Amino acid sequence: MHCGHPARTRTAQDEAQLNRLTAAAPPLLADKVRSAASLSGERRIVTVLHVDVVKSTAIAAEVGDEAWAAILTGAYDRFAQVIYRYEGTIAHLLGDALVAFFGAPVTHEDDPIRAVNAALDVIKSGKDYAIEMRTEYDIEFNIRACLNTGPVVIGPVGSDLRYDFTPIGGVVNLAARIKFAAHPMTVLISESTYPFVSPIFECTDLGLIKVTDRAEPVRVYQVMESKAAPGSVRGLIGLESPMVGREAEMESLLNLCNAVRAGLGRAALITGEPGMGKTRLISEWKSAVMAETDMPAPRWVEGHCLSYGGGLTYHLVADLLYSILGMPSAASEPETHLALFSLLEDLFGKAETSADFQEIYPYLGHLLSLKLEGEALEKVQSLDPQTLQTRYLFTLRRLLLALTSDRPLVIILEDLHWADPSSVELLVKLLPTATSGPLLFCMVTRTEHDSPGWKLVTAAREILGGSLTEISLVALSDNDSRRMVSNLLEVEALSEKTRTVILQKSEGNPFFVEEVIRMLIDRGAIIQQNGDWIAGEKIEQVEIPDNLQGLLVARIDRLPEDVKNTLRIASVIGRQFPVKVLEQILGEM
Ligand SMILES: Nc1ncnc2c1ncn2[C@@H]1O[C@H](COP(=O)(O)OP(=O)(O)O)[C@@H](O)[C@H]1O
Ligand SMILES: [Mg+2]
Repeated sequence: MHCGHPARTRTAQDEAQLNRLTAAAPPLLADKVRSAASLSGERRIVTVLHVDVVKSTAIAAEVGDEAWAAILTGAYDRFAQVIYRYEGTIAHLLGDALVAFFGAPVTHEDDPIRAVNAALDVIKSGKDYAIEMRTEYDIEFNIRACLNTGPVVIGPVGSDLRYDFTPIGGVVNLAARIKFAAHPMTVLISESTYPFVSPIFECTDLGLIKVTDRAEPVRVYQVMESKAAPGSVRGLIGLESPMVGREAEMESLLNLCNAVRAGLGRAALITGEPGMGKTRLISEWKSAVMAETDMPAPRWVEGHCLSYGGGLTYHLVADLLYSILGMPSAASEPETHLALFSLLEDLFGKAETSADFQEIYPYLGHLLSLKLEGEALEKVQSLDPQTLQTRYLFTLRRLLLALTSDRPLVIILEDLHWADPSSVELLVKLLPTATSGPLLFCMVTRTEHDSPGWKLVTAAREILGGSLTEISLVALSDNDSRRMVSNLLEVEALSEKTRTVILQKSEGNPFFVEEVIRMLIDRGAIIQQNGDWIAGEKIEQVEIPDNLQGLLVARIDRLPEDVKNTLRIASVIGRQFPVKVLEQILGEM
């Protein structure tokens, strides 16, 4: 009954290799994996990354066993570091193939995206390694990285971070099988991974391929690179709703803009649970502000945090700088360099003659990791982190003041709950500047009091007092949710029963509304007939949408063990129940 398991079995060498790699996991990740020890038997959606060496048998024969073992060890060490950076774990090793999981035992809301990022980085590090291998052994070292997404059941997690797993529906096997369609040094994803990552990565459709053991062919895509202008991973393609509700919030944001236009410094804090519509509110606000033709348009810049960006020093501040330059953060070094040069010349005068320019350029260049030369390089080269931070602060302050000299400036800091501590520290010190000129400093975050980003919230409350406006986004009213459903599905014909299912499951969270609808469509529970949406037969069997699983599971995982246990039991009883029942069951355990 274990079809899907590899026919070859792990050797002692594989075991030793795997132990070495799990022992090298960074402490923070190791803690997270260990705290998943109670996970045993839980079904999770994972994105499987399968990396293997092309023509490994021939290479092994050419260099001999000993050298081959050393080559593999070197490669695995590099790949493991990349995988750990995105908080994936190594599930399995078999000769020249490594299998990593993103989504279990540690779960994030964006595991498929992390997995593809890791795959692209693994290929990058594989290319560097290939150069070394060519010089050292005169071999062509090529790898391919293949991904698939689906459910696995995770067995007990050991203190050595090793765990067993049972794939469901051949999820792990398929990741290995599609490798035959992959060109050397490329990343290939299956149709199951594609929908989760397509807004973020440029992908080429390689068509349907036949896979052993599967009756149906599988569609595969080659991932080319990150999109320069990534789309939103949220929303339903082809179905749209204008923003519902949020009138009061919108009004107070527009008022803030007017205050800033009048020359006052202001700050805003927008909080809300994931999916409540923080990002949507910002984008509607921006459109509304930019559409006001009777007033001067402010300069609008946004710094975005990444869910895996907490360990990247000054990531948020650098991202904000890219936005100030009008460049995507994936821009090349020469393009970025050019943009910085021209912005600073516009603001401070010619590079050769302006003392201001020469004072500011090296530090901003350094923040953006640009290649500096001559005097500029000398200025930043030997500074300790503390002095560097002081310099960054000074230059950023100058930059912001210069930017507000001709028109108001709106700074949005998105997803602050993921911010890196170094950026937060710098921004806290920059806060007083926010109220000193026509500048609107807007923080957007989930209410996560223990995240580094929350320090900025606390500081803003202390320092800014009355010039800080707080907006907390709560669930949509029943009426607004209904309007949203009608807008998305544009139907009168939708039965009250279907409507109730959607509303109950989503509880006023707009993101959940969209995902419940997506799931109902995907599973054939609502179908389009002659332009109308009607309920299919399977409407009763709704579960939690795939897209929400990661988000919810990641939150549940962060709960203390006893709370998690209570939740687990409660979930078996049902959606609504008398507390007494829960108490009784817990009491008897
Ligand atoms: N008030 C609203 N009316 C209609 N759709 C909304 C509303 N708020 C959010 N949405 C949609 O719900 C999804 C989640 O919203 P988003 O802004 O990404 O949430 P957050 O940033 O708070 O996590 C998006 O697709 C968004 O367009
Ligand atoms: Mg958001």
